[in-house]
Amino acid sequence: MAKLFRSLARSSARRWIYISLLILGLVCYVYVEIERLDMGSETPAEVRHPAHRKKRVPRNETDANGQPLPKRSWWGGPEEPKPANPLDITIVTMYLRLGPVKRADGTVTEEKDYLEWMRTWGWLTNTVVAYFDDDEMLAAFKNIRKSQPADKTILVRVNRTDLSSFDDLEDVRKLFADPEYPKFEPQTVNAEWSCATNAKYDILQRVLDEGHVKTETLAWLDIGLFKPLLKETVHKKNAPFTLELPDKFNASKIGLSEVGPGDKISKLRPWEIIQKDLVWTAGGFVLGTKEKMQEFITSYKAAQDELLEHDMISADMHTISAIYTPQMVKRGPPEAKAYICRDGWFGIRGTVTKYGCLAFLCKEAAETRAKARMKAQGL
Ligand SMILES: *[C@@H]1O[C@H](CO)[C@@H](O)[C@H](O)[C@H]1NC(C)=O
Ligand SMILES: *[C@@H]1O[C@H](CO)[C@@H](O)[C@H](O)[C@H]1NC(C)=O
Ligand SMILES: *[C@@H]1O[C@H](CO)[C@@H](O)[C@H](O)[C@H]1NC(C)=O
Repeated sequence: MAKLFRSLARSSARRWIYISLLILGLVCYVYVEIERLDMGSETPAEVRHPAHRKKRVPRNETDANGQPLPKRSWWGGPEEPKPANPLDITIVTMYLRLGPVKRADGTVTEEKDYLEWMRTWGWLTNTVVAYFDDDEMLAAFKNIRKSQPADKTILVRVNRTDLSSFDDLEDVRKLFADPEYPKFEPQTVNAEWSCATNAKYDILQRVLDEGHVKTETLAWLDIGLFKPLLKETVHKKNAPFTLELPDKFNASKIGLSEVGPGDKISKLRPWEIIQKDLVWTAGGFVLGTKEKMQEFITSYKAAQDELLEHDMISADMHTISAIYTPQMVKRGPPEAKAYICRDGWFGIRGTVTKYGCLAFLCKEAAETRAKARMKAQGL
């Protein structure tokens, strides 16, 4: 032994080879021991006869609650979770089966129209939480979302009687039946429609309460808002798209799309907003952090209750504009920023450019960043 160490000391290169071999041998021994213990209570005799060896039990891929365990990396340790994209947005929507809806321009929106518009959701890569009061439409939507990874879609069946906005349905019907009440299709004529638009905020509250939002920000998105993408001149057929926060989005504000002059409308009384159908912003896309969205929901529900107490209600757009009138703004709703888009932007013509403005800007923000990343990689 002493001789061995003496010879080891003599040649430093040889010494390192011997030490390495020694360590390697130790590692192999420890590994075999661990494997043996892993096999359970086998005696060494059984180990010597491979035929008696128990089959190795595959790793259980689910935890005690049946939830999938995190994937293991190549060396067997837990895989690092991907860092969350701080610009990511959880998208919330709802479809209630209201039947055909008459529009201001005399057209009628039917279920088949929604089914067609819904196709755009198959291309949306964000996490989507969608509520339906009907199994058939839920199944259709589920089928459309199949093109995205399963964990990107959360579908919830609701009963509209569970949505507090529908508690007012009878009162709203009576109000709209009054010949003196303003008549704008559908928001001051179709009571179900009016309640359904207000119910967006019952749903947003549920989404937050039920903990479905894992991102910092969330947005309401009307189920038909992206219908312009069905035109191939606007969007490449079946191409995936993503919604991300626009550059310099102020997290202290609620993001909306401007459709009317805010400076004038914010000076009106809530009744004038409903009576003259004058609104500052659209309601089809509402963006905010969880914290600001909670504040906005609270302001919205308070405004909705106050309007109904005074026998007035219209669509969500009108309630939003009412929040920022002198009478109601003193309650301190979160500040809102209304984004403005011009006709023809994004290759889209008509009022839909304005109504969908912020949603299209979020789509464009993600596209611009993706292009910049490609360029940086020399692609
Ligand atoms: C994995 O764990 C679940 C939940 O504890 C259990 O029901 C299941 O039988 C386990 N599977 C295996 C292969 O051990
Ligand atoms: C919805 O709720 C109402 C009242 O609670 C009930 O009568 C109805 O059957 C429910 N509908 C569904 C589809 O669950
Ligand atoms: C973001 O909005 C808040 C609230 O309106 C405001 O106080 C703050 O100055 C804004 N921040 C920036 C960077 O504009």
